[in-house]
Amino acid sequence: MPRPADVVFPPGKERYEERRRERQNSKLQDEFFDHATLLAVGRLVTRGLFDTLDYPVATGKEGGVFRASGAGGYRAVKVYRIGNSIFRSLPAHVMESFRQEASARNFGQLVTAWTRREHTILGRFHDAGVQVPVPYGYDRNVLAMDYVGDGEGRPAPKMHDAVMADPTGAWAAILEQIRLMLTEAKYVHGDLSPYNVLWLDEAPIIIDVAQAVPRDHPQALELLDRDVRNFAKYFERLGVEAPFLPAWDAIGGARLAPRRS
Ligand SMILES: Nc1ncnc2c1ncn2[C@@H]1O[C@H](COP(=O)(O)OP(=O)(O)OP(=O)(O)O)[C@@H](O)[C@H]1O
Ligand SMILES: [Mg+2]
Repeated sequence: MPRPADVVFPPGKERYEERRRERQNSKLQDEFFDHATLLAVGRLVTRGLFDTLDYPVATGKEGGVFRASGAGGYRAVKVYRIGNSIFRSLPAHVMESFRQEASARNFGQLVTAWTRREHTILGRFHDAGVQVPVPYGYDRNVLAMDYVGDGEGRPAPKMHDAVMADPTGAWAAILEQIRLMLTEAKYVHGDLSPYNVLWLDEAPIIIDVAQAVPRDHPQALELLDRDVRNFAKYFERLGVEAPFLPAWDAIGGARLAPRRS
């Protein structure tokens, strides 16, 4: 099996120099904010999107999300690490088509295209009435969006960690968000789980949308099916009756593809 990184940027003589340089760079990029990322943050500050980064809300191998402050209040700033870690979990052919669509020649360009994609899809979801953080702008690998938090600036918990007053109502609310994504935005999230939904004021807010696909994508139905089944299982563990077929109907799936089980 070829490594995903080799599928996307095939090794070859012409790639040798570039790879050597990438390796050298990645050593320098062990620090979270490499120089170019700091410059991108600086340009977003100049554009007036926020004034200061306050603290990290979450960091991981793919990047991190920070709370930021500015005249307009709090913002969430998502920083993607330059490298292949974001793309590791994507099937190789999805990654390959994304690389072509992004016409990226290295991981820097690919990550920028990924950041732009998250920005675009957040905007599309917001326009369709889906509850998502409103995107304000991006630069290179840094994206600024609405901060999802309480009145004192504390970040909202993931649905997985939240205490929900009415789990049955929460399941209906999730299905409504999936329906809006599918029928209004005409997209399938593709990585929906209680880890990618925040819970604020007893309502869901969908995040982490860069991997979403248009509903006419060859894998869209399969991904939609998985999103709905995963969430149904989660709610059934919470004691909510969440059978798949009515859920599939509720999101408008039946019109796209009838299901019997
Ligand atoms: N707009 C936001 N407002 C407040 N917190 C946020 C926001 N966006 C993301 N977060 C926090 O940052 C975490 C990571 O965000 P996200 O899921 O978008 O990134 P990720 O790279 O997929 O990280 P992970 O692999 O942990 O899911 C979220 O679980 C949430 O706690
Ligand atoms: Mg996530």
